[in-house]
Amino acid sequence: MSAGGQYRHLFTPLRLGPVTVRNRIVFSAHLTNYAAGGLPTEQHAAYYAARAAGGAGLIITEEHSTHVTDWPYEKLIHGFNPAVIPGYRRITEAVHAHDVPILAQINHNGGQASSMYSRLPVWAPSPVPDPLFREVPKAVELHEIRQIVAGYATVAEHCIAGGFDGIELQCSHSSIVRGFLSPATNHRTDRYGGTLGNRTRLLLEIVDAVREAIGPDHALGVRICGDELIEGGTGIEDAVAVAQMVDATGRVDYINTSIGVATATLYMIEASMQVPPGYAMFIPSAIRQAVGVPVVGVGRFKDPLQADRALDEGLCDLVGVVRGQIADADFAAKARSGHATDIRTCLSCNQECVGRMGLNRWLGCIENPRTGREATPVPAPRRRSTVVVVGGGPGGLQAAVTAAERGHRVVLFERHDRLGGQVQVAASVPSRAEFLDITRNLIVNARRSGVELRTGVEATPDLVVAEHPDAVVVATGARPSRPWWAADHPRVVDVRDVLEGRAFPQGAVVVVDELGFHQATSTAELLADRGCRVEIVTNGMVVGQDLGITLDMETWNVKAHAKGIVQSVDLVPMGASAVPDDEEPAGGVVLALQHHPTGTDQVRRCDWVVCSVHQQPEDGLWRALVEAGLTAHRVGDCLAPRRAQAAVVEGHRVAVAL
Ligand SMILES: Cc1cc2nc3c(=O)[nH]c(=O)nc-3n(C[C@H](O)[C@H](O)[C@H](O)COP(=O)(O)O)c2cc1C
Ligand code: SF4
Repeated sequence: MSAGGQYRHLFTPLRLGPVTVRNRIVFSAHLTNYAAGGLPTEQHAAYYAARAAGGAGLIITEEHSTHVTDWPYEKLIHGFNPAVIPGYRRITEAVHAHDVPILAQINHNGGQASSMYSRLPVWAPSPVPDPLFREVPKAVELHEIRQIVAGYATVAEHCIAGGFDGIELQCSHSSIVRGFLSPATNHRTDRYGGTLGNRTRLLLEIVDAVREAIGPDHALGVRICGDELIEGGTGIEDAVAVAQMVDATGRVDYINTSIGVATATLYMIEASMQVPPGYAMFIPSAIRQAVGVPVVGVGRFKDPLQADRALDEGLCDLVGVVRGQIADADFAAKARSGHATDIRTCLSCNQECVGRMGLNRWLGCIENPRTGREATPVPAPRRRSTVVVVGGGPGGLQAAVTAAERGHRVVLFERHDRLGGQVQVAASVPSRAEFLDITRNLIVNARRSGVELRTGVEATPDLVVAEHPDAVVVATGARPSRPWWAADHPRVVDVRDVLEGRAFPQGAVVVVDELGFHQATSTAELLADRGCRVEIVTNGMVVGQDLGITLDMETWNVKAHAKGIVQSVDLVPMGASAVPDDEEPAGGVVLALQHHPTGTDQVRRCDWVVCSVHQQPEDGLWRALVEAGLTAHRVGDCLAPRRAQAAVVEGHRVAVAL
């Protein structure tokens, strides 16, 4: 058995050419949007250093652009600009201080880009528009191909000058190299198109040029897409053949893997909790059997035992744990020291990592308020205080954990027998059980850090005062609200009435989606599973609009179709009345709707209406405490009902200020 106790392989070292990693846990490449003006920042250095300090075996940075024609999103690092080198040094020195190697991923996104930032035509093998960016690229000419290759070599030199231990070539889900490899996007008839050998030519030329640029003392890896999951694209057999060609050069030290195309099948690259863990392991396992160099497997590694098992089964030589280490910088160290249950397990919710990338904001994490804020120091606590927290949802638990970890005495009251607040409800619907981890993790940490957890106790001002608190944090959540159009019809209910067991809709059910997120879509699925005929109506242009940014839209649509859920858009509820006594469905609801683009009226007759609408703050206790003269801070929904991330961030912020 290796160091790391129960793990047979995870904490064994491995050579990647000239670089030795101390364990098999890779913090694989991912965008952060931490760059400013095309340059790396102090936040990059602090972010990667935190994962190095937390025990990662190898860090691979986000992509660095290799050419001025490649600027698909605002905060991309412009590796082609030599001004990046001082920032590179700050990153590599911060990571090397923890004795961890760090590689730079370099890339040209090709046709998977827009000209919005660069004001230059995007380059690609052929004029095939990308389905996301919807821009016809310029087919590169031979002299431009030479520029592309030279660009990779120049950027590799910048990286080595900046102290990186090597380079990873992104040839996988978003890259001009992938564009050349794929018959879906490469329609060329010259020596860079046609056969797989021809389509791989650019990749092999880049490998040669970059190896020449970095010399033998630095590692070189290639990231390959194992299955594009698009019509006419490459599949696993092509990926294995490309990997063999790469391996045969003798100039590459490892192969990293990926699945999908970033702009067409992104939902499989950063798969949400709808997709089972291990879903992409067929890729490294097939490649590993065909090449001599180590192979990295990536995709929903959530816990160290699962990672160790993949290594044990010979599926891969290293495991990429990306969101797992975004969520918990100490993933590896906690596993190695036998404290795996303390890991803040990633939920694969995609809300604050992938979701924020799509919105051009800096990378964060729904359950880790420090992610994205590593460069901002946390002030020391002023003195040991007694802190009373009311409410055991994510906001209250986070406030309690942070306060306790800062040395305060913390008492938490929760009126229900179980902790978790609305997370319990949110996780009770189909395919969303992993959401429960957000409070499971916090409960473990609350117990470990000595929070007194008083469940089944309704906090009153007298109970709170009896603790002689120096500070009170109120996290009492939100309650369902009755939309103006619902009148008092007993069969117009809230999603929480359904999920908390107060209402049992049957027959024909209309779910009204005014939130555009899982509340409506998940409840619709649950009701369809219970045999209801379900229609979702929304005032938006698409049902579950925000499922798009968390990459749940595709899986939702597949399931909705299979379950017969009807989706109707652009409809605003205008009123709900009772079905007349002598008409069908008996006891049902007449729901009046207006199609807002045309102003025309529609009507649905159904057995039940279930509302997914905005909630109201549950702030009665806070008001009573303030009236009693106490200083009380509200966090999360009782301040303003939003999503879980707001509660976690506010719980942390309030506790840090104590
Ligand atoms: C926010 C985000 C941005 C990403 N950007 C990149 C990237 O720039 N280059 C890359 O090769 N992979 C990128 N990826 C994909 C990851 O390397 C990895 O394949 C994916 O997250 C699945 O691993 P996980 O389940 O451990 O998170 C990104 C992933 C995330 C979550
Ligand atoms: S936001 Fe969700 S998916 Fe992203 S790292 Fe955090 S827990 Fe994981």
